[in-house]
Order: sequence, then C-alpha cells, then structure tokens
Amino acid sequence: MTENNIKEIDESVQGTATMIEQNAGTRKLYLESYGCQMNFSDSEIVASILADEGYATTKDSEEADLILLNTCAIRDNAEQRIRNRLVHLKTVKEKSKKPVIGVLGCMAERLKKNLLEEEKLVDLVVGPDAYRSLPSLIEEVEGGQKAVNVLLSREETYADVSPVRLDKNGITAFISIMRGCDNMCSFCVVPFTRGRERSRDPKSIVKEAEELFQMGYREVTLLGQNVDSYRWNVNSKGEILDSNCETVNFAELLEKVALVNPDLRVRFSTSHPKDMTDDVLRMIAKYKNICDYIHLPVQSGSSEILKKMNRGYSREWYLDRIEAIKSIIPGCAISTDIITGFCGETDDQHNETVSLMEQVEFDFAYMFAYSERPKTLAERKYEDDVPEQLKKERLKEVIELQREHSLKSHQKFVGNTYEILIEGVSKKSKEQYFGRTSQNTVVVFDKENTKKGTYVKVKITDCTAATLFGKVVS
Ligand code: 5AD
Ligand code: SF4
Repeated sequence: MTENNIKEIDESVQGTATMIEQNAGTRKLYLESYGCQMNFSDSEIVASILADEGYATTKDSEEADLILLNTCAIRDNAEQRIRNRLVHLKTVKEKSKKPVIGVLGCMAERLKKNLLEEEKLVDLVVGPDAYRSLPSLIEEVEGGQKAVNVLLSREETYADVSPVRLDKNGITAFISIMRGCDNMCSFCVVPFTRGRERSRDPKSIVKEAEELFQMGYREVTLLGQNVDSYRWNVNSKGEILDSNCETVNFAELLEKVALVNPDLRVRFSTSHPKDMTDDVLRMIAKYKNICDYIHLPVQSGSSEILKKMNRGYSREWYLDRIEAIKSIIPGCAISTDIITGFCGETDDQHNETVSLMEQVEFDFAYMFAYSERPKTLAERKYEDDVPEQLKKERLKEVIELQREHSLKSHQKFVGNTYEILIEGVSKKSKEQYFGRTSQNTVVVFDKENTKKGTYVKVKITDCTAATLFGKVVS
C-alpha cells in the first residue's frame, strides 16, 4: 500500500479488472470482472450457475473453453478499456482452443446485438438479469449460432443462487440485497442497464450471512445501488403487500444481519443522501459490529447542479445528513463520489464542490470527470459543454484536496488503538498482515502471533494518505 493507492480514478477499485479462479468441474471458464462491487458479486452468481454445468474457473485465458467479461458502462473510458480487451481476446481465440467469448453486465445491456453484429468480437451477449439463461445460450453458440439475452426483469434477484466465492481471502464477502435503480440521476446509465429496483427476500440474505459466518467469513458488505430504499413486502407508496408476511426496511435488515453473530462485521454500500434516515444511523450506533463507515455520494456541492443531476436533494440537505451522521455516530468515517464538469458547471459551481469538501473533510472519495452516456436524461436535455481539459483540471484540483483530507483523516488515528479484522498478508512484506478498522481504513502491522480472520487491537504509529501502520497490543 502506498500513498498513490488513493482510489480516485477508474483504474482503481471501481474499475479494476478482477480475474477470478475457482476449482471444480471439467470445462474451463475464464471470468473477468470490471466496474463496481455489484459486478463482482454478479460474477459469483455466474460462476455458481456455470459450476452446476460443470465449469471450473481458470486464471489462464489460453486454456479456457469459455471466456466471459462482466462489463461496466458507467463511463466511456471503462467501455474503451473493455473494447481493447475484447480485441486482444479475439487474437487469443485465434491461436488457442477457440473458446466461446461472451460479454455480460452493463455494456452487454447497453449495446445489445450491436456487440455481435457491428464488431464481431464476441459470440454471446448477456444482460444482468439473464444469467440463468447462460447454459442454454452457450449451447446455442456451440451449435454455431450467436446468442443474446438482454431482457431486464422486475423480479429477478438470484435469491436462491448460492454464489461461488471467488475472492479467495475467505474473510470478507459481498451480499447483494437488491438490484436495479429507480432514481434516474440524469448522468447515470445504471437505470437503463440494470433495470427497475427490486429487493431480495430478507430470509435469503440472512441465510447467506449465516452460511458465510459458518464458513469462516467475518465481514459481509450488503450491496445495492441505493440500499436506503431497500424494502420487503411494501410497495413504493408504503402499502403492505401481504399482511401475513413481515415487512422489512433497510434499518431492520441491518439489524437482522448484525444479529447473525457479534463477530460478523456488517458493511453496506451505497447510501443515498435523499433516502438515508436517522433510523439507519441509530441502528449503526446500536450495534458494534455494524461498521462506522458510510459511503454517501454527493456528486456536486452546488444545489443548481444537483437539481440538473436530478439527485433529489440540495447542498443544505446533504450537509444536514452529514451533521446527523456526526451527531448520531461520533467518529464515523464518511466517503463520497464527486463528478467534475457536469453539463453547464460554472467556475462558481465547481468552487461550491470544493467548499463543500472543505466543510465536510471526507475521509475518502472517488472522483470522476463527467462522461456523457447515451440515452441518459443529461444526454437528452443538456449540452456536455465543459471542455475536457477543464473537467480534468477541476478533477485534478479535487483529487489534490482530497489527498490532503485523507492524510489529515489518517493522522487523527495515530496514537490511538483500534480493533482490526485481519484480512490477509500485506502485499509489501510476508512478515506483515493487513486488516481494516471499523472505519474502513487499511492498517498494516507485524504479524507477531496473530491469525488471519481474527480481531486484534492495534496501536496506530504512523500513516500515509492511503494506509495506517501500527503495532499489535496484547
Ligand atoms: N460520468 C462520470 N461519473 C459518473 N458516475 C456515474 N455516472 C457517471 C458519468 N456519466 C459516478 C458517480 C457515481 C459513481 C458510481 O460513478 O459519481 O456515484
Ligand atoms: Fe446511478 Fe443515481 Fe442510481 Fe446511483 S442512485 S445507480 S448514480 S441513477
């Protein structure tokens, strides 16, 4: 971990291509995931569906019978990277055992048949709600056809599919609690690629958390595009659907998962400022194992820009939510997402983002230059008129400011002792472990007699903007 590990641009956590391997079965599947945590979690569903068909994952694309890229369409540069990868894989196909090549996820949903017809790079195109049809689609391809299924669903949550855990650390896992998004932020392609919002049965979520705990996992992250709008057995007007069945909102779901075991840490992502209630905050404060960390994307510090973004809140509302977090959960870490150079953004409006950052002092931020996406409200309604150079300059400014804030946030940890969940061996030294504080900050320390997957108390002795360093205290 180094200082320049701050995850500010696509090629970091949000855009990392993750190559995945899991053994079992006879045919070989090579699966790469791009984009958000939700895509990573979906890949685990895909691996599970294909494991039932006898596919084992491999790290070597050249020995694969099936190559799948689970793709992201959130910004143009994410798509360009994937296109380049597909061109490269086509050459692999020509010289290896001629695998079937498929595109899954948001780019598949956005481009649909065009991916097959225009560019002839792939054999198979499957959208995020159609993974159950993968086995029959692969059969069609093996019979000499090209195959597409990009139907979106109002019901599919893959609740009954038991994900094959591909991350390998065996300590932290994602649990998808809902799919899709109904918010229609004007810059965002997600409502078009992932369809309508739907929540997953809470019983299947709790069961998955229990199974993970029994397997030795000690942290789960509950995933949704807007977890605060999670609701079970209640419609969008707040009416109960089945009076014989329990209703569950996000705060109640958090409690159910926290009660699985006090040694199971619970995280969640992503919260939405317009929907995040004090009930959720009180639940976080009530349970020690619900982590003191909230990712609350602001996108812009200007109320006018927020209105054009269709975010459903103002600068003042956002700052009120920050105050609520600080008063209900003292010491809670807060991270955010910021977009620079949205349509019509003036210097003054950009400066409002800078001043909001100065006021809040986020512990961490993901920052992006605005990238116009086809079919979105912004593409139809507003001109993408901030020059690329200016978007980049504004981005650079917020990245530099955030680096200062991240360092300042880390400096506050130094000298204090925190409970750390040990996740694995540090990349830099075999003699050191890394783990995380409840606030989601990475801590590196000498192993001494500690063990992966356990909680230890670590006194923080030093830090950079990305990492804390410490020493185990007995
Ligand atoms: N351009 C730039 N950033 C975007 N995001 C979403 N859509 C776009 C876009 N068109 C960012 C938002 C969101 C995060 C996941 O990606 O900040 O919160
Ligand atoms: Fe996109 Fe907004 Fe939904 Fe997030 S809440 S996925 S930014 S539309």
